[in-house]
Amino acid sequence: MRTEIIGVSQNIERIKELINQVADTGLNTLVSGETGVGKELVVQNLYARSNRQGRPFVKVNCAALPDGLLESELFGYEQGAFTGAQRRRRGKFELAHSGVLFLDEIGDMSLPLQSKVLHVLQGGHFSPLGSEKDVRTDTWVVAATNHDLETEMKNGKFRGDLYYRLSTIKIHVAPLRERPEDIPYLIDFYVKEYSQLFKDKKVKKPDNEVMKKLLSYHWPGNVRELQNVLKRIMILGEFEEGIDEMLQPADAPRPGDPLAIAPMVHSELMDYDIGNNIDLKTLSLKKIRKKVLDRVEKEVIAYVLNKTGWNRSKATKILNISYKTLLYKIKDLGIEPPEGVLSDEY
Ligand SMILES: Nc1ncnc2c1ncn2[C@@H]1O[C@H](COP(=O)(O)OP(=O)(O)OP(=O)(O)O)[C@@H](O)[C@H]1O
Ligand SMILES: [Mg+2]
Repeated sequence: MRTEIIGVSQNIERIKELINQVADTGLNTLVSGETGVGKELVVQNLYARSNRQGRPFVKVNCAALPDGLLESELFGYEQGAFTGAQRRRRGKFELAHSGVLFLDEIGDMSLPLQSKVLHVLQGGHFSPLGSEKDVRTDTWVVAATNHDLETEMKNGKFRGDLYYRLSTIKIHVAPLRERPEDIPYLIDFYVKEYSQLFKDKKVKKPDNEVMKKLLSYHWPGNVRELQNVLKRIMILGEFEEGIDEMLQPADAPRPGDPLAIAPMVHSELMDYDIGNNIDLKTLSLKKIRKKVLDRVEKEVIAYVLNKTGWNRSKATKILNISYKTLLYKIKDLGIEPPEGVLSDEY
């Protein structure tokens, strides 16, 4: 099992720190984050660094099975418990005894089953289906979800008591677009890995132009998407087969969205430092600051102007700037009115 967590962002640094602090405690841990961010990787790391390493690691995907099957998967059953139960089957809670039980996609579990899981967590024992017997289990329960469980809890879709039980420790893995500084390290790591994997083939490594696109893309499918795109680039080469279109940002950053700024800064930096072609001599903080601020101002002003139908007096009030400043900025930043709006008013 490969378990190296690549990244230098604050989020990843904090996660590595948490893993070390939590691994030996056996405290129930909830790992959250969008699809493909590396939740399972975090869980594997928790296990690998804990004193339960070498004991069973049992994973259950709670989204993959219908309710009844999931229940028998978790708790097991006695022979004859239901039609088709030809022999006794041990449940995952029992199999994970002394090790780790990884409840993946816990947000998809039904409410009745949530109660049953809560019961086991509270008492440390359970009865398999069709059995009177009490089975004790000492397992470290680690759960993962891409749902926002706090909201689901408020909407009555997730039990609060189970949520608090599961999330003694919370580890949130941020989406890749919020930590673009990790992207070059991930690319580097996986380019090496895939060069090995496809060593019989003539693989192509992403060139500077491609690197730039990879670094400024918003990666809705996170690290898994990055892996797939890299494989395609390395096997199919460059930007054939629609990869170029795929890497177009889905929508421009929303004005006022501070998270949209990080990739912007990053792509500015990439103008100076692309792959191995490093030319840092001309990089100055002042220049970058001006460029990024200009872009933010341009977006916000254009947004407000468009919202007010290019009513400049209204826009100055909203933006809290003078009329003169607004006119200057429109000109200086090259903000164009949409078709049909007269631009000669200033
Ligand atoms: N920081 C990282 N460093 C190296 N590899 C990573 C990192 N984050 C994710 N990966 C890799 O990306 C792939 C997807 O990660 P993983 O399966 O852990 O995501 P997930 O959050 O569980 O996704 P899903 O919600 O779809 O189940 C895996 O191959 C994993 O090893
Ligand atoms: Mg997963």
